[in-house]
This record gives sequence, C-alpha cells and structure tokens, in this order.
Amino acid sequence: MSFVITTPLYYVNDKPHLGSVYTTIICDSIARYKRLVGEEVIFITGVDEHGLKIQRTAIEKGIEPKTHCDEISEIFNINWKNWDISHDKFIRTSSKNHELVVNEFYERVKKSGDIYMGVQKGWYCVGCEEFKDNPENSATYKCPIHQKNLEWKNEENLFFRLSKYQKQIEEIINKPTFIEPVERKNEIINFVSRGLNDFSISRTNVSWGITVPDHDNHTFYVWFDALLGYVSAISSNTKENLLEKSINGGWPADIHLIGKDILRFHAVYWPAMLISAGMKVPKKVFGHGFLTREGQKMGKSLGNVLDPNLLLSKYGNDPVRWYLIKDISLGNDGDFQDKRFVDIINNDLANTIGNLLNRTSSMSRKWFDNKVPDNEKILCENKLEHLAKISVENYHEKFNSYKLDLAANEVLSLAINTNLYLNDNQPWLLIKEKDNLPIVKEIIYNVLESTRIIGLLLQPLLPELSSKINSQLGSIYKKEVPWDQQLKWGLLIRNSNLPKPSPVINKLEYE
Ligand code: MSP
Repeated sequence: MSFVITTPLYYVNDKPHLGSVYTTIICDSIARYKRLVGEEVIFITGVDEHGLKIQRTAIEKGIEPKTHCDEISEIFNINWKNWDISHDKFIRTSSKNHELVVNEFYERVKKSGDIYMGVQKGWYCVGCEEFKDNPENSATYKCPIHQKNLEWKNEENLFFRLSKYQKQIEEIINKPTFIEPVERKNEIINFVSRGLNDFSISRTNVSWGITVPDHDNHTFYVWFDALLGYVSAISSNTKENLLEKSINGGWPADIHLIGKDILRFHAVYWPAMLISAGMKVPKKVFGHGFLTREGQKMGKSLGNVLDPNLLLSKYGNDPVRWYLIKDISLGNDGDFQDKRFVDIINNDLANTIGNLLNRTSSMSRKWFDNKVPDNEKILCENKLEHLAKISVENYHEKFNSYKLDLAANEVLSLAINTNLYLNDNQPWLLIKEKDNLPIVKEIIYNVLESTRIIGLLLQPLLPELSSKINSQLGSIYKKEVPWDQQLKWGLLIRNSNLPKPSPVINKLEYE
C-alpha cells in the first residue's frame, strides 16, 4: 500500500507564489519522512489549467490558452526542480489522459442519476472560480480573497446532485481524522449543517475546458475537472478503465494538503463526487493557513508580494524551508517577517546547529588526530544518549501527527541540549590533565554522536544541510541501512577519520 500525498493543483494564471511554495515544501517534507521510515510514497503535484481565469489571462496576453499553459506549467516544473521538491507525479489537467479520466468519471456519475440540466444564477468570483453565497453579494462587492468584483451569471448548466449526499457527507466530515485542524473541521460541519445545495458542473461561456461528451456547447466546470487531476495522476496511460487503474495506482489519497480557502471543495464536493462514481474518498484533508508579509495580506496592488525565487537565490533552500516549517504551526496562519527570518536562521541553524558541529569536530580533530575518539565507555549514565532517545521518539510522534513545527523544534532542542552538555562538561579544561583523556574522549564522542543524529533528523526537513552535516562527520547516509535504524545511539564509528572542515551554513545579514 502506498502513501499518497497531494498538493493542490495550482492555477497557471501566474508563476508560483510563496503560498504554493509553502504547501509544496510541507508536502515534500512529509513525503521524504514517509520514504525514510520505509513507506512507498506517491507524492503528487501539478497544475490546474482550465477555466475562465486562465482563459482570460491568455486573452490578456494575446496568446492561445494552450501556449500560455505550456509556458507557466514549465515554469512550475523548473521551479520545483530548483526547490529540490521530490514529487513523483506532476499532473497537467490539459493532458489527454486527464480528459479520459474526466469523461469516464462523468459517465459513472451520470449512471448514478446524479446529473441534470438546470439554470445557474448567481454572483461569481473568477479568481476563486466559485459562486459566492454571501448575503452582501452585489456588483460592487469585492471577493475578500482576490479583491475583485463579483460577476453576475445566469446560464443553463449541468448540475451535480450534491444534496443527495447530505447524510454521507455528514458522516465523513464528523470522522475524527478526516478534516484537520479541528477549527477548520468545525467550519465545514457548520457549512454542511445548513444543508447542501446541488452545484453546477458545466459552463457554456467558457471554451477553455474539457467538452462535456453529450453536450457539445458545455465544458466541465474547472473544479469538477481539477479535483479529478489527483486521480488521473495515478491512473495509467491507457484508454479505458482508468478509474479502476487508479485504484491499483494507490487511490484513495492518504492526505490532500491544501489552503483553508479551498477546503469546501476538497472536504464536501469531492467526497460526494467520488461516492457517486463508486470510488473511495480520501483519508484526510488538511487545510493549512495563509501566509502574510509583515502582518499584511500579500497582493499585487499592495506591492508587497514576496517572490519565493528571490528568497531562494538570496538565502538558499534550507533557510526558507526552516522558516516555513518551523516558524508556522501547520494549520495556523503565518507571517513572513524579514528580520525574524534572519534572526531565526542565525540563531537556530548557524549559532546552534552549525556552531555545535564546528566546535566539536574541531576539538576532535585537534585532540584526536583528525579522528572520532576511540573511547571506551566509562561514564555510567549517558545523559546525552537519554536526551537523544527522547528527542527521536518525540520527533516521530510529531511528524506522524503532521506537527512539523514541533518535529523541527525537537531537533533544535537536541542541538541546544548538546551544546549545554558540552558547556557543562568543559572538555577544554579537562584535556589539560592527562588523566582526564578517557573522559574527554567520551564527552567528545557523545557530542559528535548526538550531532550525527541531529543531521539525520534534519533529512526530511532540510535535506541539504542534513547531508552536509553527515558528510562532515564522515557518516554518509547509507541507503541499505534503514534510516530509523541509523537513528540508534552509538553508530558513529570510533577512530574513523573526520573529513576536512567546511562551513555547513552561513550567517545571514539583515538589510
Ligand atoms: N486550482 C485550485 C486548486 C485545485 S486542487 C484540485 C487553486 N489554485 S491556487 O493556485 O489558486 O491556489 C493553490 C493553493 O495556494 C491553495 O491551497 C491556496 O489556499 C494557497 N494559497 C493562496 N494564497 C496563499 C497564501 N497567501 N498563503 C498560503 N497559501 C495560499 O485554488
């Protein structure tokens, strides 16, 4: 059984922003962790290419939608390479395979008697690609997310009988682990308790979409089409029975990690669509918070959009990952503050973790001929071994409950404790007496060993820094020994050579 994790399929109206980078980094970290503990992982990301928003963006640029989508999809692809994202699938909803999945799915839903023709009237936000049912809707009301006016629509559409699934959806959303975090779950329970309305799944005024097989002048509503991208990502490239193939490919997803604004689609509409088509529903939908910048919503009009690629080229991957993972509790909103970013990276990565490695390995090199000490155990109680064991246990528990900030904090605490152990024991004073040599060896071995474990624990969080730390200790990660076995105390080889030192993380300057 595979562990299937998905990011949202990002709209290609623009290149990736900090929000999309955030979700993708979190998914990447979870996917890496699951692989390390031995699970077979399918990590899906991709792009959502159809709909009115994309059609209009292409028209504004004066190019064909397909040309526009090819361009931006490629930018997403390159972007994830630059961020060293470890996804297994990149799905484009303009692909032929996806169209076949959508058509097959539609036939199933139709067979269940869940499609009918009706009239859709209402206020529509093109940015959200969603009809809005707020009481304050009007031609002058602006969508709070996109700051754009709503548009009035009145047209004949095909509808999906969502109302039929009221009871089943209530059961699903009340399951203890289906929606996280709990505040989001309550919002959805509230929404569903007001009664589910059928929703329209086709458009007659949007040409850039998948044509509905039995209604040539209709294209599928972009959300009906896009959610199915998760399924087409894992259905093999044949012409029929694609939905069955997706089950062999790993369906249902274990977790859809998405932003809070699109929870309704994933936790209500999507499960109902799947039940109607006789398919399994995802196991979990996790709605994370929104990122702001220096306390303000990011927006082009405010001129405060933070380009993630500038951050990447200026600071590198690890610092940005650390800030986004460790400083924001997954599920809560988070704020990107330049000064705080610099302080956190300098304190946590440079001063605490980097410095720990530098000082211990340089003591070991100096006193033990560029080697790990060849000590024999003399201290009866190994405090650091005990602390490391607890940190490893907590770290697994936090990762498994998607508390990535706390997992990162667990690594940091171990580094803080290791520095304290070093300061308390003061090997630089002990070494002055020849008789103290055995105990100095043991202290230095313990600190190096704890640093090795810190390096390994960083692997799913900060893959680059992790491999730098481990190669500085000469303990290069071996694929054949399972990662969690390598987290056991005492595996650093005594008397082994320590490679030439080189800095693993640079201090940042606040401009
Ligand atoms: N195409 C749909 C998703 C379809 S999934 C089958 C979509 N795309 S999006 O590009 O507009 O949004 C992608 C994700 O970015 C969403 O999860 C959204 O919540 C998230 N974010 C948009 N702005 C954000 C922030 N400022 N901060 C964090 N995430 C934010 O919706």
